[in-house]
Amino acid sequence: MSYKDTYAAWAAAPEEFWANAAEGIDWIKAPKTVLDPDAGVYGRWFTDGTCNTCWNAVDRHVEAGHGDRLAIIHDSPVTDTKREITYAELQDEVATLGAVLQDMGVGQGDRVIIYMPMVAEAVMAMLACARIGAVHSVVFGGFAAPELATRINDAGAKAVISASCGIETKRIIDYMSLLNEAIEIADKKPEACLILEREVHPAELVEGRDLNWADAMAEARAKGRRAECVEVAATDPAYILYTSGTTGAPKGVVRDTGGHMVALNWSMKNIYNVEAGDVFWAASDVGWVVGHSYICYAPLLAGCTTVVYEGKPVGTPDAGAFWRVISEHNVKVFFTAPTAFRAIRGQDHEAALMAGYDMSCLQALFLAGERSDPATLKWAEEHLGVPVIDHWWQTETGWAISAIPMGIEALQVKHGSPGVPMPGYDVQVLDDAGNPVPNGTLGNIVVKLPLPPSCLPTLWNAEDRFRKSYLNDFPGYYATSDAGILDEDGYLHIMARTDDIINVAGHRLSTGAMEEVLAHHKDVAECAVVGKADELKGQMPLGFFVTKSGVNRPEEEICAELVKMVRDEIGAVAAFKTAVAVQRLPKTRSGKVLRGTMQKIADAEEYKMPAAIDDPAILDEIREVLEGKGLVG
Ligand code: COA
Ligand code: AMP
Repeated sequence: MSYKDTYAAWAAAPEEFWANAAEGIDWIKAPKTVLDPDAGVYGRWFTDGTCNTCWNAVDRHVEAGHGDRLAIIHDSPVTDTKREITYAELQDEVATLGAVLQDMGVGQGDRVIIYMPMVAEAVMAMLACARIGAVHSVVFGGFAAPELATRINDAGAKAVISASCGIETKRIIDYMSLLNEAIEIADKKPEACLILEREVHPAELVEGRDLNWADAMAEARAKGRRAECVEVAATDPAYILYTSGTTGAPKGVVRDTGGHMVALNWSMKNIYNVEAGDVFWAASDVGWVVGHSYICYAPLLAGCTTVVYEGKPVGTPDAGAFWRVISEHNVKVFFTAPTAFRAIRGQDHEAALMAGYDMSCLQALFLAGERSDPATLKWAEEHLGVPVIDHWWQTETGWAISAIPMGIEALQVKHGSPGVPMPGYDVQVLDDAGNPVPNGTLGNIVVKLPLPPSCLPTLWNAEDRFRKSYLNDFPGYYATSDAGILDEDGYLHIMARTDDIINVAGHRLSTGAMEEVLAHHKDVAECAVVGKADELKGQMPLGFFVTKSGVNRPEEEICAELVKMVRDEIGAVAAFKTAVAVQRLPKTRSGKVLRGTMQKIADAEEYKMPAAIDDPAILDEIREVLEGKGLVG
């Protein structure tokens, strides 16, 4: 069936479409209800079904006789190690780990924070939680202790699974001291922690609180302890993943169990065109949604081999690292963020380091996480010689809203567009008043409710915030907070966020959260953070601050303090390196800071004088300051 026919079939009978997709999953109790429109905030999927994600991702493949197939390949240039884990071995690991967690007091519905680097054990930890019906919340390693504490508090975590360290190229990230600090400042202390000791940098464990992973696993094995897959409702949360909102408090995106499996399993064949036994590699991090969906869950649900890569596109050891991994592990489909390709292209413009690697195994490259600039996309196409597919999604959805569905039809790729809407998503473009705009016109991209399976049913313990953030502005629709265009061929073009989120190296960051940190500096009266265009990372945060009257300290000193504060409070991942002092911030007459205009000045883009601006002269002051520091363009 063509894409057009598949999409039309979904639109004509969405429940039938998802009921068919649900057959790809082993249910404990098969759902009779596909969508209950009255359940939850906007309807819930598979409300009377019960299942277990770990069973579907691991055990069922072993039961089907594929225990010897590779489930995980851990490739770690930073520790110079590689490890292969079969499905049978993975089953043994997660059953044992599940029992360890149960012995730590973790039960069904309890929340477990996972704060780990890119090791195979991170995936095992996620699966072990799923096995015993616990709800994990993975925190990206680049976040600082206060961010980790916020998540421990909000999730009400009973336990934490962590590692003694992570390795950033050559720099050791001491996870234990970050974890200790986070627990120190958290209001709700987790009862127990399970720590994976890594040889390069073992940690001192806290007595009475911490268990050593290897010891606990050995003890459970010696006692013959194994956890079975517990039966959970399809609507029980599989995990919470915190993502940036417009304020400092991150949003806890909730993923339900049944719909998540159905949509991800469907996506593997239909979008990525991979099947059981194929090797799939998403070079992201388990801390991000791409890592949840396409390092851990989807490849394993589909019976593929997933590559867990603990390295960078460049520097581990060089810009040929991706080509080595693809050829060495026979990767069929590769998924990463455009920024990774920009980093490689920046260091090896002619892709000379590709020579010597047989990459004939590779059939497609998928890009997401940020807008793919056509130059990078063309470079990748030219050097890889395979289709390069930009696809668009969000933490909130868990899978692509738009793509080129390679398993359905290899539609023409349009550079600058992340493809066409996937079945499940009725994507529309509305003006600010909620009226549809003609094709080719820029507007707010929205998705008609109900959202398809896997998309968030709510925010963790924050239903009002869920409605306010996503549903209230355009009644009947989910607001994506992305602005863009649907063209005459039905392709989407994502142009910008409509909120204060910026995208730095494929990482979603809140300028509001950074402003909250800057505002706490004793000398700062007012501040603003914008995302300035950056050749490598897409955007970089740029801070502006006005000092309190009477402050007479050198600007550089205050700037250095602000940079340190953001690094200590939010983390290195914020990549906040530049702050500039200004006399005043440009505002509307009602006092709203004109961040968009400041960003355009920094990017040397044309802008219209905002009609409601209070004092246009401030814009010239801002330009002068930025020009003086070489920060324009
Ligand atoms: N743990 C601890 N620190 C981390 C981290 C982690 N998991 N990940 C990143 N950091 C640190 C980095 O070391 C860096 O620290 P520094 O300021 O001391 O140098 C800082 O956070 C910023 O990281 P990043 O913005 O990633 O910059 P980088 O220079 O280290 O790497 C790229 C640049 C392009 C190579 C890298 O960003 C990349 O591979 N991006 C792909 C992103 C991605 O996969 N996104 C997921 C969506 S698909
Ligand atoms: P995250 O929730 O971290 O995945 O970030 C989601 C946001 O990243 C989206 O709302 C977009 O702004 C941006 N994004 C993700 N993928 C794409 C893409 N393919 N093209 C343009 N923007 C993208």
